[in-house]
Amino acid sequence: MKKLGVLISGSGTNLQSIIDNIESGFIKNATISVVISNKNDAFGLKRAENHNIPSVFIDHKNYPSREKFEEALIEKLDEYNVDYVILAGFMRVLTKKFISYYQKRIINIHPALLPSFPGTDGQQQAFDYGVKFSGCTVHFVDEGTDTGPIIIQAVVPVLENDTADSLKKRILAQEHKIFPYAIKLLVEDKLKIVGRKVKVSDDIENLKDIFLINPYMVK
Ligand code: GRF
Repeated sequence: MKKLGVLISGSGTNLQSIIDNIESGFIKNATISVVISNKNDAFGLKRAENHNIPSVFIDHKNYPSREKFEEALIEKLDEYNVDYVILAGFMRVLTKKFISYYQKRIINIHPALLPSFPGTDGQQQAFDYGVKFSGCTVHFVDEGTDTGPIIIQAVVPVLENDTADSLKKRILAQEHKIFPYAIKLLVEDKLKIVGRKVKVSDDIENLKDIFLINPYMVK
């Protein structure tokens, strides 16, 4: 059984989708050992409590530096012996030290098709740019901002009458599918990082004849 430590800062809908997929048996050999938030009012903490998962608030403002805050994070994650660190809407930048401590064992979900629109507000950035497709990406975390090897992506078309908010909602619905799937592959040891690429060994359907055009051409 693999142990997950989930870091959050907010509502925790992705956390909820991970919990639900563990409880339904889609993710078989993993358990969430601890949920940590740097925000006291993060609703994700409540979600963890509702499922009897240990939940901890560690206020980054109580520490004189990023490094000291991360030492507290590591101490807590180690206390629960976590194998993997899952960033599910954790809004703090992590230092090299933290990332190398859990090397190749941290994954993150980003609400855009990386490498486009990294950083905060990926959905708004994509919407403002005027792309016809956006989506979401689960990736291993390296030292850059949203630059690590990509595990899985979902593509979401931007519709003619979309607002940034409606686009955000449709992207979030896809996040709730691909994040649990990435975690399933991770804990089943089906992901192998080869340079910048993540090789996936699973019964994956062949997509070679599938493509998307937006606006859709009827011809
Ligand atoms: C998601 O949009 C995720 O992609 C980003 O932060 C948001 C977290 O949402 N990293 P939630 O707290 O899981 O609802």
